[in-house]
Amino acid sequence: MDKDSRNGRPIGTGDEGQVFIMGTNNQSRRPDRRWTTKQTVSLVSVVSAIIVIIILTSVAVWYFAGYLQEKAEESHEGNDEKVPRVYTGYFKLKDMEFVPELESRSSMAFNQLSWEIHKKIKNAFTSSSAFASYYNVSAVTAFSQGSVLVYYMVMFQVKKSDLELLQSLLSVDIIREFLMSELTRDRMTNHGVFVPSSLTIYSSDEKTALLIQSSCSKTIRVGSSPVQFTSPGFENDQYPPNSECQWFLRGSPGKQLQLNFQVFELEDDCSQDFVEVFDMLIPAKNKSISLECGKQQPGSLSLTSSSNMLLLIFFTGNQHNFRGFKAKMTQLPASKCGNVDLEAVEEEKNFTTPFFPSHYPPNTQCVWKIQVKAGKRIRVVFSRFELEEPVEEDVCIKDYLEVLGTRYCAEQAIFAVRSVGQTLEVRFHSDDFLTSRGFLAEYVAFDPDNPCPGKFACRSGLCVPTIRRCDTWNDCGDNSDELDCNCRSNEFTCGNRNCIESSKYCNGHDDCGDGSDEACNAGSTCTDKDFKCLDGDCVKKINPECDNQPDCSDNTDEENCDCGMRVYQPTRVVGGQDAEKGEFPWQVSLHLQEYHASHPTHTCGASIISERWLVSASHCFQEGGKDPKLWKAYFGLHSQNALDDEEVVRHDIKRIITHGSYNSWTYDFDIALLELESPIRYTYQIRPICLPAMTHNFPVGKSCTITGWGSTKERGPAARVLQKADVNIMNDTLCKKLMDGDTTHRMLCAGFLEGGIDACQGDSGGPLVCVELPSGHWFLAGVVSWGEGCARANKPGLYTRVTTVRSWIYTNTDNEV
Ligand SMILES: *[C@@H]1O[C@H](CO)[C@@H](O)[C@H](O)[C@H]1NC(C)=O
Ligand SMILES: *[C@@H]1O[C@H](CO)[C@@H](O)[C@H](O)[C@H]1NC(C)=O
Ligand SMILES: *[C@@H]1O[C@H](CO)[C@@H](O)[C@H](O)[C@H]1NC(C)=O
Ligand SMILES: *[C@@H]1O[C@H](CO)[C@@H](O)[C@H](O)[C@H]1NC(C)=O
Repeated sequence: MDKDSRNGRPIGTGDEGQVFIMGTNNQSRRPDRRWTTKQTVSLVSVVSAIIVIIILTSVAVWYFAGYLQEKAEESHEGNDEKVPRVYTGYFKLKDMEFVPELESRSSMAFNQLSWEIHKKIKNAFTSSSAFASYYNVSAVTAFSQGSVLVYYMVMFQVKKSDLELLQSLLSVDIIREFLMSELTRDRMTNHGVFVPSSLTIYSSDEKTALLIQSSCSKTIRVGSSPVQFTSPGFENDQYPPNSECQWFLRGSPGKQLQLNFQVFELEDDCSQDFVEVFDMLIPAKNKSISLECGKQQPGSLSLTSSSNMLLLIFFTGNQHNFRGFKAKMTQLPASKCGNVDLEAVEEEKNFTTPFFPSHYPPNTQCVWKIQVKAGKRIRVVFSRFELEEPVEEDVCIKDYLEVLGTRYCAEQAIFAVRSVGQTLEVRFHSDDFLTSRGFLAEYVAFDPDNPCPGKFACRSGLCVPTIRRCDTWNDCGDNSDELDCNCRSNEFTCGNRNCIESSKYCNGHDDCGDGSDEACNAGSTCTDKDFKCLDGDCVKKINPECDNQPDCSDNTDEENCDCGMRVYQPTRVVGGQDAEKGEFPWQVSLHLQEYHASHPTHTCGASIISERWLVSASHCFQEGGKDPKLWKAYFGLHSQNALDDEEVVRHDIKRIITHGSYNSWTYDFDIALLELESPIRYTYQIRPICLPAMTHNFPVGKSCTITGWGSTKERGPAARVLQKADVNIMNDTLCKKLMDGDTTHRMLCAGFLEGGIDACQGDSGGPLVCVELPSGHWFLAGVVSWGEGCARANKPGLYTRVTTVRSWIYTNTDNEV
């Protein structure tokens, strides 16, 4: 069986892919380069007519011709490095018939026509005194229907020191006008038909220069049945280094293409290896709908085109070669999301962005008009929302949802909107750039006098189950479910959150209504399941420790309970992926200095159990991780990019104690203790987790939380923020079956049978914690250990069951914890 320790690769093999909280949120994989490149269109405004442009073009071209001459006369100073400037675009040839052969880059028709047009483009630039010395190479890369649309690329090489001066000459507007006038002026051609009626040009990333003459080009056409294709070397599980490949993907007119990646395994660094998909047959920055690297869950990445073509490009650096990708392309009928009228409904109904949870297509507008019966109102709950595009100053100008005059964009936790009357209009807009997964919305008619029958009505408009009230989680989004939760000091807090007078506690009468005020007697006849007080008495109550009720006559069940509490109130909703600062104050990030690495990097997680001790997983400290000196422990850390924040504290490790029975094949007894060089000082953001008693019961189905740092490594400064996810404790019998019998009693299973994007994992050694109510104390139920893959269906995550190693922890911390 293919067993993955949760730190990805064994220690000592370099480059860690430790954490793996999978979620809906993949935006962090995008490098920042696309946001930072702003086209500087210095001379031209949109409306000023072509005349102005033509004048400017001639002036600019004339000016630069003069400038060049001067330059040539000057002596060459130094050896100035040249940089490529790449442009790509398309134009329409009038009165020319499209023949299917033009789709195939190896056909005679393609070669003839592309050569003719290429010669004209080349000639235009090389005979211009302004452009000649910068022009490097150009090519006609594809044709498509529409009379004939011609797709082309051009590259210039410019000295770095000249770039600023040439900014206006090399602006897209000047080049467009120049090329257009050159191509229309010269009607003397072999075919006599090369008169473009319109011409569009975009700037393209420097890297795409390599595509102009790439021999790694393929055209793939999809018909009624899907087609599959793979990256080069896929059959050998390794793509070659230094590749630059492109796939021209085509479908029938009037259809949309959908690409689903069934395998996607690339290096984590998008500046080295990446796949980028464009909503046209050219690699224009403006048309990029997604740039991806790293590993993706099989099938989780799907992209959709707005028309019947896509360009996929694949670049690899000179090292770290992975498996690559396998993609399935399907042709879909054009999405119908415009002007849908949803009729008066009583029942709930869902609607989504087109093709959800695949990426929605670019250039899409949808309007939903919802109407309900008179007297009713409409509530729309957006349970998944990801319209991820760069937004400046909170203004949604690119892709957005608009409802009641407000625009929503970026990633949002669950939220609701309510109509004022019986109708509501919801609009969705996507531009022609970057797409994401979109939203899933559910609408329901409600009675304004009773907006949430049987549920708690949040101020935010959401309805949450009443059991979610006062559970320390902000389920409403505005925290309104966590207000007014505490009983007064002279009151007893019942298991069901009722408050009763303290004097009624243990009075022989069930005052709470759930018996919690009467589960109080300590006695001396014990079973294995009972909590044992230090004086030998037993408590016949489930999980009596730290529940704020003294159960032992010696009070030992309520000692050492300054743990598992968060000081602040989280402000976000469960289900969001990023943790809030201080939300999991016991989380530790362990950085390992590897042999060949320049500095230590996050490798495993751990949990604070006392001022001197941390608990983690044994498998983190094998081979290259045995030496305590190689590790640094970070406390109060939120983002891996903010190690220097003032609330972050770093400590050295004095001693690593791995479990004597740890088995590196089966991951049995995967537990370790780390003794700190010096004790930590607790703060709001640094606090211990409660260790459960040996008898503590974490029932099957209980929802618990895992935390860890994502492994997405990126160029840019994007935050590598602590991730959280909820998982359910699973049935051991079932788990053993699912894991082919490879589990032991020391392992606890958690996750979801259906797997999927919302079931996530934390990193090795990190915590699986569960909250006990009503006390609100969090307990360490498990330590992230292993699993098969990540978030796969029927493959839950495995955690070291802390209750089974509780006494080992006690003994090995010198009876301290
Ligand atoms: C194009 O640029 C490359 C370097 O990137 C250079 O080797 C080549 O000579 C140039 N070709 C022309 C025609 O300028
Ligand atoms: C490409 O995007 C830039 C920046 O968003 C915009 O100014 C420019 O007009 C776009 N180009 C075309 C041809 O649409
Ligand atoms: C709407 O979507 C939610 C979440 O996926 C699902 O639980 C619910 O059953 C769906 N409702 C309908 C009517 O499809
Ligand atoms: C676990 O599942 C088995 C059968 O699949 C069942 O017999 C057992 O009662 C379940 N245990 C719990 C605690 O739900």
